[in-house]
Amino acid sequence: MKRDKERLVDAYGRGIRSLRFSLTNRCTLNCIYCHGEGESREQKDRGEISAELVIEIARVASAYFDIRKIKFSGGEPLMRNDLVEIVQGMRSFENDISVTTNGLFLSKYAAELADAGLDRVNVSLDTLKEERYDSITRSKNNLPQVIDGIYSAIDAGLTPIKLNMVLLKGINDDEIGDMVNFVRECNKRGVQGAAILQPIELMPSFNPPMLQYKPNFGKVEDELKSKASSIKTRELQRRKKYIVDGVEVEVVHPIDNTEFCANCSRLRITSDGKLKGCLLKDDNLVPVEQVDERHILTQLKLAMKYREPFYR
Ligand code: 5AD
Repeated sequence: MKRDKERLVDAYGRGIRSLRFSLTNRCTLNCIYCHGEGESREQKDRGEISAELVIEIARVASAYFDIRKIKFSGGEPLMRNDLVEIVQGMRSFENDISVTTNGLFLSKYAAELADAGLDRVNVSLDTLKEERYDSITRSKNNLPQVIDGIYSAIDAGLTPIKLNMVLLKGINDDEIGDMVNFVRECNKRGVQGAAILQPIELMPSFNPPMLQYKPNFGKVEDELKSKASSIKTRELQRRKKYIVDGVEVEVVHPIDNTEFCANCSRLRITSDGKLKGCLLKDDNLVPVEQVDERHILTQLKLAMKYREPFYR
């Protein structure tokens, strides 16, 4: 049955077009900058949202509102052994389903996830140098497996793959050129545009001293601008896309960016099943406690009532 969809809008006129589920707090890495999707420490270890509830929230939101994208993140979402089931549960109602992953389990699961209906993946890759990778992720010898994972995802057609590179001053901010070259190699393996580089501005996390590593993002963008053969702006999020040596570089710059917040069309769901209107706020969370259409609708509307831009 096709219903007319209402627009789910907040008091600032911002509609919701994407849902971002954090499926777990567990992760095999321990990145020095990780914001854990904005979940507070008290939320950790509170148990994980069930596959059934994830699917029902997505179904209800998609049935009533104009949702176009669903993203799964974590922690590391591939640590959920029901991820395939969750993705399968989505395929009938959304056409852009993606996962943000550290890539460690991708070579094992890429093909299965693609079969289940996953459209694409974002892989966290801040550096191509093993020593740097170990110290950023506070782990040992994982980089080769992540690179294998990226290749498997390309082979499985989980494209365009976005490589998330959190820029850290004095740690990896000299590697944008090398990453562009790596993306070009990835594109040779798949089709042109199979991979996209996504440099990300360091966000506040529960580890405030990290902010000393925040590079001057304006300078980074100026450099990309000078090297770019063309520049586009993504309509909804107003993100800039630079084409550098034939490679797409899409910059994520949310800090102090009122335009970023004004155009935010994302609703988050925490790993313990609460609706969250903003990565940087946790004083307006709305719990979803039952696998029940009316309850979920009520809670979605409540979350939207509380939803506010962080920078305005
Ligand atoms: N700042 C910016 N991005 C972050 N991520 C995690 N923590 C931060 C932070 N403090 C992003 C990384 C990772 C994704 C899951 O979240 O890009 O790929």
